[in-house]
Amino acid sequence: MFARLARIPGPLASSRSLSHSIPSSSASWSRGMKVLAILYRGGDAAKQEPRLLGTVENELGLRKWLESEGHEFIVTDSKDGPNSDLDKHIEDAEIVITTPFHPGYITRDLIKKAKNLKVCVTAGVGSDHVDLNAAVERKIQVLEVTGSNVTSVAEHVVMSILLLVRNFVPAHEMIERGDWQVSEIARNAYDLEGKVIGTIGAGRIGYRVLERLLPFGTKEHLYHDYASLSAEAEKAVNARRVQDLKDMVSQCDVVTVNCPLHEGTKGLINAEVLSHFKKGAWLVNTARGAICDKDAVAAALKSGQLSGYAGDVWNVQPAPRDHIWRTMKNPLGGGNGMVPHYSGTTLDAQARYAAGTRAILENYLTGKPQKPADVIVGVGKYETKSYGQR
Ligand code: NAI
Repeated sequence: MFARLARIPGPLASSRSLSHSIPSSSASWSRGMKVLAILYRGGDAAKQEPRLLGTVENELGLRKWLESEGHEFIVTDSKDGPNSDLDKHIEDAEIVITTPFHPGYITRDLIKKAKNLKVCVTAGVGSDHVDLNAAVERKIQVLEVTGSNVTSVAEHVVMSILLLVRNFVPAHEMIERGDWQVSEIARNAYDLEGKVIGTIGAGRIGYRVLERLLPFGTKEHLYHDYASLSAEAEKAVNARRVQDLKDMVSQCDVVTVNCPLHEGTKGLINAEVLSHFKKGAWLVNTARGAICDKDAVAAALKSGQLSGYAGDVWNVQPAPRDHIWRTMKNPLGGGNGMVPHYSGTTLDAQARYAAGTRAILENYLTGKPQKPADVIVGVGKYETKSYGQR
């Protein structure tokens, strides 16, 4: 049924899909190319579990192949500051690969230094760690493994909504402490059935979240996105578009953020917007931390304007030990569902984004066109429609 719907985000129809192929520009196709990968350190877990492909230890499974092709492959987790490996190696790297889970921030300044850089590959989804405007100007392509972890994230969103609405975390903490006081938990526990859910962004992840919420008997699904779904796609997930963000959030019991981070979404959920939420609403953000104003969210949770906030993305990653989102609570001592950035890096997702990264590199090395949906920035221009209206 889905193949017939005009705009359903997903593998069958993509808002990023273009009718033409994007050429793999100016590949050197020669041996001796320098590829730099910024990945997270996996430690003992990565030594014991080879499927943790997105780690420094397991190198996306690329080393043997890249070296057999005669290329140099530098893999590191050192990414911040002037003495980092990223700063040092970017000068002559032709390709930089990074995951959003431990993002190498490819700033305008670094792009200036990167004399040889042709391609930035995101092993995953979400390329906001690259200064995309600077990449456009320098004709550096930005590619990502579109769709590779959207189901993984959608499942995490549904889980986070449930754990907030049902007040799960304080309940479990009570059990670990050895206590048992049902009323302390039940006083702030609800059913998801009958609630109004709104998504900011109804792309691949946002749409999948709505699909997965349907069986819970939610009352209505709202979405705020400058791209409209087709009438059929809306009907399939009981969704209604609301053009004005404040109007939408004022109707929702639960708001979930599923849009990319770009100039138009940075700090989008600020104190002013939060004041339009229904008192005691729940907010889930697995998109990017910086879409929500850190201090405004903490204040809204503290005052009870929000009953809960959950997600896995932070304005800086790794989050500092004293980041207020680690410990913030609602007036009843709960409402915090924060975890490290892992929703899109399940073992299933890692297999997909590692394979997708290799496919992108193979296309580049052999001069084959990239999959259009994977191209965020092509040679000198944005190809995606998801990073703001341009
Ligand atoms: P997508 O490109 O399929 O959908 C994004 C949607 O957001 C599009 O429909 C676009 O029109 C909409 N949008 C853009 N700007 C907007 C705005 N100002 N207001 C409302 N809607 C807006 O992207 P997909 O695959 O659904 O991923 C979305 C984001 O989720 C990624 O960019 C990434 O930041 C995040 N993500 C997080 C992961 C995690 O592990 N936590 C993993 C994968 C993605």
